[in-house]
Amino acid sequence: MKKQILSGIQPSGILTLGNYLGALRNWVKIQDEYDCKFFIADLHAITVSQDPETLRQNTKNVIMQYIASGLDPEKNTIFVQSHVHEHAELGWILNCTAYMGELSRMTQYKDKSKKQDNIKVGLFDYPVLMAADILLYDADFVPVGEDQRQHLELTRDVAQRFNNTYNKEIFKIPEPFIQKETGRIMSLQDPTKKMSKSDSNKDGFISLLDPREEIVRKVKKAVTDSENVIRYSDDKPGIKNLMNIYSAITDKNYEEIEAEFKDAGYGEFKLAVANTIADSLEPIQAKFNELNAPENNNYLNSILARGAKEASLIASKKVAEVKEAVGFLGK
Ligand code: TYM
Repeated sequence: MKKQILSGIQPSGILTLGNYLGALRNWVKIQDEYDCKFFIADLHAITVSQDPETLRQNTKNVIMQYIASGLDPEKNTIFVQSHVHEHAELGWILNCTAYMGELSRMTQYKDKSKKQDNIKVGLFDYPVLMAADILLYDADFVPVGEDQRQHLELTRDVAQRFNNTYNKEIFKIPEPFIQKETGRIMSLQDPTKKMSKSDSNKDGFISLLDPREEIVRKVKKAVTDSENVIRYSDDKPGIKNLMNIYSAITDKNYEEIEAEFKDAGYGEFKLAVANTIADSLEPIQAKFNELNAPENNNYLNSILARGAKEASLIASKKVAEVKEAVGFLGK
């Protein structure tokens, strides 16, 4: 039996190069080896305010970006989280296993809540829903970026506590699957912060759908340092980030990159990085545009309908097991 993989992305905007290098591209690489489920985390997206029409469009866009990036809908189960009601149902039950204290320690919550006035309960509770997403499908591995590591640790703790409480191995304990080099792609405008699709400074991130001129413009504007030497070092976070991106796309290691740009300044290096990014995104954008044609609407809907059916079958069995363990009266 193949090992189980599960992961998802929030439809809170067009995906960034961070989402792509930190998550999506790795999913594409492992899709043959594992039994994979990839979903669009729309229930998570509403933990911050969303315009309804934009959310609907972003959800469609994420599906198309999954497929355009190379996820094969014939090999993987692709679905929308809100199409499988068991996510919310298990989320509630796990709310009664998770502790306020452990949720209060989540750094993502602390960061996001600082930026808002009326903080929603859902934003606080979000890691419990994420635990439900993972535990419903007995995932062995969860391929994500570094920012999700803490949520995965919480998932493991909640799963273990639940199993201990009910004295039964109901949940499999999942492992994170995080790529060291690309697990944390940084903002181009502030290389001490992660690149994020919800950044108010649009120059901080590259979107998967940015045209070449826009990519060149943003990379040229990227914050670096004044040394003008291409060298991989922790005290050069801007250059380090660009080298990480360049290395991830070209498969060249840092010594090779340093040698390649030995006689170049930042201007030349940035242009090479920008063009490499644009070259790698070009085929994805072409495929996205093809999928985005109205005649493909039925095709996309049929993938999601099939995905929801496959996912529901597994999720409903798990929830039935959970309800039985907890002591709910059967129907
Ligand atoms: P989200 O939508 O914020 O990000 C989607 C994926 O992209 C990764 N990522 C990054 N990787 C490297 N560098 C970056 N700058 C960067 N920004 C984002 C994230 O780590 C993630 O893998 N909570 C999740 C969605 C989710 C989920 C799940 C994931 C909900 N339920 C269950 C796995 C399993 C999130 O908000 O991802």
